[in-house]
Amino acid sequence: MEVKIYKSKQEVAQHFSEYLKRLIQKGESIHIALSGGSTPKIVFDYLADNFKDLDWSQVHFYWGDERCVPPTDDESNYRMTDEHLFSKISVPSTNIHRIKGEKNPSEEAVSYGELLNSTIPRSEDLPQFDLVILGMGDDGHTASIFPHEIHLWDAPNNCEVAVHPDSGQRRITLTGKVINNAKEVAFLVTGSSKSEKIREIMKSEGDYKTYPASLVAPNTGRLLWFLDEDAAAGIATAQS
Ligand code: 6PG
Repeated sequence: MEVKIYKSKQEVAQHFSEYLKRLIQKGESIHIALSGGSTPKIVFDYLADNFKDLDWSQVHFYWGDERCVPPTDDESNYRMTDEHLFSKISVPSTNIHRIKGEKNPSEEAVSYGELLNSTIPRSEDLPQFDLVILGMGDDGHTASIFPHEIHLWDAPNNCEVAVHPDSGQRRITLTGKVINNAKEVAFLVTGSSKSEKIREIMKSEGDYKTYPASLVAPNTGRLLWFLDEDAAAGIATAQS
């Protein structure tokens, strides 16, 4: 595990984007699962502003989770990514593998799981992403596996239908076996509302075992945390 702490969300976005650029510049075909929510917006804006002319043709985009809404909905992770990134870079539409939030959730969980099996290189008889990008909610959820449904982490399928504990909104989410089969996993976590959970997870204290984010442990051992100072307040200070 490697923990990188930066002074601000903007610096997190800059350093994560530079890490991603190095990955993309290897020039091989790579398969990346994106996270949703608000933190990635800053990263996508930075990528669009600074790495617009990168060769994106070998990058295949997937999602770690998606809300069960149409792609035009304000809640859609796909829509957010299109607005902040895809609409500003040159990436083949065939490289964008969105979760179809408009479809029947149970059917789409199966379809997307099959898509992963048919399009992504495999290891341990599972799809193996080159990179899974994750966020962490204030409650310690990651992707769309929430504490009240932590059993979904160990589900046998590539994807499952989850339910947001407050809104009841249904989501499609990757399960733990796919996330932990990735070559690399990078958490992007910012903001003081995350600091207590980050502290508990990093120090294996309190109720950390009840937080799905604490279960992220890629088999390759390559787990990166990109944190801002606010989120890391309980564990350390920013790198100079
Ligand atoms: C989603 C995300 C979710 C997100 C966390 C953190 O669809 O909402 O995938 O897991 O990463 O809720 O969200 P913020 O970055 O907005 O705090």
